[in-house]
Amino acid sequence: MAFHQRNIFTVGQIGDGREAAAARYVVANARRGDPDDVIATIDRFAYEESFLINVGDEKGALLDAAVVRAQPRLALELGTYCGYGALRIARAAPAARVFSVELAAANAEIARSIWAHAGLADRTTCVVGTIGDGGRTLDALAQYGFGTGTLDFMFIDHDKSAYLADLRSVLDRGWLRAAHASNGGGGAIVVADNVKLPGAPDYLAYMRAEQGARWNTVEHKTHGEYQTLLRDVMLESEYLGG
Ligand SMILES: C[S@@+](CC[C@H](N)C(=O)[O-])C[C@H]1O[C@@H](n2cnc3c(N)ncnc32)[C@H](O)[C@@H]1O
Repeated sequence: MAFHQRNIFTVGQIGDGREAAAARYVVANARRGDPDDVIATIDRFAYEESFLINVGDEKGALLDAAVVRAQPRLALELGTYCGYGALRIARAAPAARVFSVELAAANAEIARSIWAHAGLADRTTCVVGTIGDGGRTLDALAQYGFGTGTLDFMFIDHDKSAYLADLRSVLDRGWLRAAHASNGGGGAIVVADNVKLPGAPDYLAYMRAEQGARWNTVEHKTHGEYQTLLRDVMLESEYLGG
C-alpha cells in the first residue's frame, strides 16, 4: 500500500506544505478561468503528487448530483481545506453563492487563491472560524445574508465529532429551507462526507432516527478519497422541516 494510503488519517490537515504545493501546482498547470480544469488538476495532484483530503473525484460526483438536485441559490460548506469541494458546488450550481467555513486561516488563503485562478472568486467566500465558536461565525454568515429558510444546500466535511452539533446550530438559526408538502417543493439538501471513514456515528444515528420525520436520507456506499481499498459512506439528507 502506498505511503499516502497508509497515512490518510495521520497527515496534517494544516501546514505540512502539501496544500500550498497544490495551489502552486494549480497555478502552474490549470487553465486560468476554467473550473473543470482546476478541479481535474487538483485531482491529478492528489493522485500523482501528494494525497489530499478533498472530497475527491468519486464522492465529488455524488456531491455534484446532490447539488444539481438542490438547485441552490445559497450553499454552505463546513471545512474548506484547499477549496476543492466549494469549487465543485459552485460549478454544479451556476446561480449559487457558496460560503465555506474553515478553522485554519492558512487553508482559507490557499482556497481563495485557487478559487481566483478558477475564475470563481466572485461567488465563493471563505469565512475563517467554526460554527461552534459561540456565535461569531454564525453571526458573520448572517451579515452575508443567511436568514430564515434561505439555505438550500449544505456540505458537512470538517471535524467529524462536530457534524451533529454544528447541524443543530444551523437548524436553531432556522436557515435551512424546509420541504413544502402543499406545493411539492423540495427541502434543503445536506450532504455529509466521511460518515464511515473515519466516521461520524452520532450524526448517522441521528439521521436514521429522524428518517421520514425531519429528514429523508439516502446512504451512499462509496470509497475514501483518491483510492478504492477503503470504504466510506456519504449521507444525502433532505430537510423535511418540523
Ligand atoms: C476534509 S477537509 C475539507 C475538504 C473540503 N470539504 C473539500 O472537499 O475540498 C477538513 C477541513 O476542515 C477544517 N476544520 C477542522 N475542524 C473544523 C471546524 N470545527 N470548523 C471548520 N473547519 C474545520 C480543517 O482545517 C480542514 O481544512
